[in-house]
Amino acid sequence: MAQVYVSDHPLVKHKLTLLRNKETDPKKFRELIREITILLAYEATSDLEVAATTVETPLQTAPGFKLKEPIGLIPILRAGLGMVEGIWEMIPSAEVWHIGLFRDEQTLRPVAYYNRLPVDPTVSVCLILDPMLATGGSAVKTVEILKTWGANRIKFMGLIAAPEGIAHLTTQHPDVDVYVAAVDTCLNEHGYILPGLGDAGDRQFGTG
Ligand code: PRP
Ligand code: URA
Repeated sequence: MAQVYVSDHPLVKHKLTLLRNKETDPKKFRELIREITILLAYEATSDLEVAATTVETPLQTAPGFKLKEPIGLIPILRAGLGMVEGIWEMIPSAEVWHIGLFRDEQTLRPVAYYNRLPVDPTVSVCLILDPMLATGGSAVKTVEILKTWGANRIKFMGLIAAPEGIAHLTTQHPDVDVYVAAVDTCLNEHGYILPGLGDAGDRQFGTG
């Protein structure tokens, strides 16, 4: 069964409140997404495997560790893009593979428009990045794409989830753990999360 981790960190709560604010401009919005993602990444990467190594300090040889598994960051275009930079600073060796999906406004079903994954998987851990888990359709579709590719460990990292999205994702993919900053109340009739933050793509890119 999937685990759902909802951050209880005071900095996440504080920054998420600023992010939700309708007065927050796109520049500040992008900064906050980047910062919250770094805080969430601490938890989402806590079970990454490490290999023992040694390091030469100025005085002695010391025991150490290095990340063992190739890691993939999978932002869902467009809104997931803003989550890449912060976590990539923490894991500069990660590969970034973009998946392009948008929601059909009528059906709310995800429509795939970009995927340049190579034939064979190149990473063993995939972190899907998307600020919003609303109906869950986009996340479920992305997990399907990654599983078809051959990825065997997949996690979802988001900022705000609706209970409907969590139920959809964890029912369809009980092997995918979910890391979010908050779980909100519900979806409105247009599939937007309430209270949410509005349209995460438009608010980042100034296109609203
Ligand atoms: C948003 C968001 C997710 C999706 C979530 O993207 O970034 O990808 O909606 O909704 P769901 O859980 O109901 O699938 P959107 O389709 O607005 O595209 P955009 O990021 O390009 O603006
Ligand atoms: N996509 C968004 O950007 N916001 C929502 O509330 C739902 C889907």
